[in-house]
Amino acid sequence: MKVSIDVKRFDPEKTNENTWVQNYKMDIHPSSTVLDALIHVREEIDGTLALRCACRASICGSCGMRVNGQAKLVCKTRIEELVEEGETLSVEPMGNQPVIKDLIVDISSFFAKMTQVSPFLQPDSLPEQGEFIASNDSMEKLLTEMNCIMCGLCVSDCTILEVDDTFIGPAALAKASRFVYDPRDDKTEERLKFLNDEQGGIWDCTRCMQCVEVCPKDVSPMDRIMDLRETAIEIGAKKTHGYDHTNSFEKSVVAHGRLDESRLALESAGIFNLPRLLDLIPVGLRALIKGKLPPLFPHKAEDNKKIKDIAKKIKEME
Ligand code: FES
Repeated sequence: MKVSIDVKRFDPEKTNENTWVQNYKMDIHPSSTVLDALIHVREEIDGTLALRCACRASICGSCGMRVNGQAKLVCKTRIEELVEEGETLSVEPMGNQPVIKDLIVDISSFFAKMTQVSPFLQPDSLPEQGEFIASNDSMEKLLTEMNCIMCGLCVSDCTILEVDDTFIGPAALAKASRFVYDPRDDKTEERLKFLNDEQGGIWDCTRCMQCVEVCPKDVSPMDRIMDLRETAIEIGAKKTHGYDHTNSFEKSVVAHGRLDESRLALESAGIFNLPRLLDLIPVGLRALIKGKLPPLFPHKAEDNKKIKDIAKKIKEME
């Protein structure tokens, strides 16, 4: 199979034009992976191409790259799944992390964020004899989180990290949930309070689902973050704009059958929080100029009764 690969390259030692796209053409077996092709380039065509890999079996998590715009483990990604004969594939380094050279990114911020969530067990005391015994059931619940191989694909494509690097991020928050729900850990409340209060914590996720889409091990980090939010609310950690936002959203939909955006903005900011309310004025003015200011009293949706019934059923199930 003939393929052509556009590789985004970066050489920090070049003084000008240190970033460029280089095209490589090759004849390769259709079942080859993108990693096979890149290794072929490095060994047969251009020995200067820098890339990172180890196990070649989607275990070590070291070969994350963006292929055709989406983060993937290239050792798990077959070329034939992405392009037809003669088409061009694009390969870039992962996003949201500085590039060291070509396809290799600096993963130190990834591990710094992991460290923020204390990714180790913190029991109050040790068993008097032997070791901790955790039931199979309780550990089975953690299997999803434990599947994480820390490849960083979720971090690469996280749309929040693109604009706010204080966000702890999907990988570290999924790791945090692995310890919050571990029966051998005794710091559940402290962990949740930290994740709840901390700037960049659980309420900063906007549920764009990118992390769910790219995770190669079905850890589904966004769902883990939602679990943490629910548990934080259950333990009474409610003093956040995130909680106020969620609460206002629910009340508005139940009351009107649709979202009351004016109320949502005011209640999320906190109706007694003057500085945050003042922050809303420019946004409100821009919305007014563009004719996008939501009505002060929203119309009720026609099928509002159905929405109320659904909300009632959910409450009963809870
Ligand atoms: Fe180990 Fe791809 S080389 S996961």
